[in-house]
Amino acid sequence: MASNSTILVGLLLLSLSSFHVLSVASFEFQVGGINGWVVPPENDTKIYNTWASKNRFQVGDTIRFRYKKDSVLEITEAEYKQCNSTRPHFFSNTGNTVLDLDRTGPFYFISGASGHCDRGQRMIVTVMSHDDSSGSKAASLISYGGAAVAPLALAYICF
Ligand SMILES: *[C@@H]1O[C@H](CO)[C@@H](O)[C@H](O)[C@H]1NC(C)=O
Ligand SMILES: *[C@@H]1O[C@H](CO)[C@@H](O)[C@H](O)[C@H]1NC(C)=O
Repeated sequence: MASNSTILVGLLLLSLSSFHVLSVASFEFQVGGINGWVVPPENDTKIYNTWASKNRFQVGDTIRFRYKKDSVLEITEAEYKQCNSTRPHFFSNTGNTVLDLDRTGPFYFISGASGHCDRGQRMIVTVMSHDDSSGSKAASLISYGGAAVAPLALAYICF
């Protein structure tokens, strides 16, 4: 009897702690999937912002840009609106750029290649803190725990 409930508590703790690890682990986002960071097709110029709005970026995650004969710049919102690449905070043209999303809030990225930003090669990534997003994760954690424990507890009562 005692050992049964010990196992139950052990399983519960194990499931809680593995979820905790998952929620804290950082993630690397690959911009543009296999196509990478390129000028978007003319009929799909918002491709990067559509992608970014579907993802959940958190502090500590990284973002990777792969490209050829191009560059990636991080700039201000005002510069982003004008595709102004004259004074970037960050510039890279190595072809494989990994950036740490090391703060919350928006990051504005554009291509520095002539005309590319105007044709849609730009993206806003909004980064959240772990606290902002813990609400929904905590809720799913509790419902997961409840669902997993119920059949075990039932089995414990039956035997
Ligand atoms: C854009 O055009 C290509 C080829 O013309 C087509 O395959 C693709 O589905 C179009 N994309 C959108 C978002 O309309
Ligand atoms: C581009 O940005 C720089 C620095 O923010 C600014 O000095 C310059 O006037 C801007 N150029 C244009 C065309 O807006």
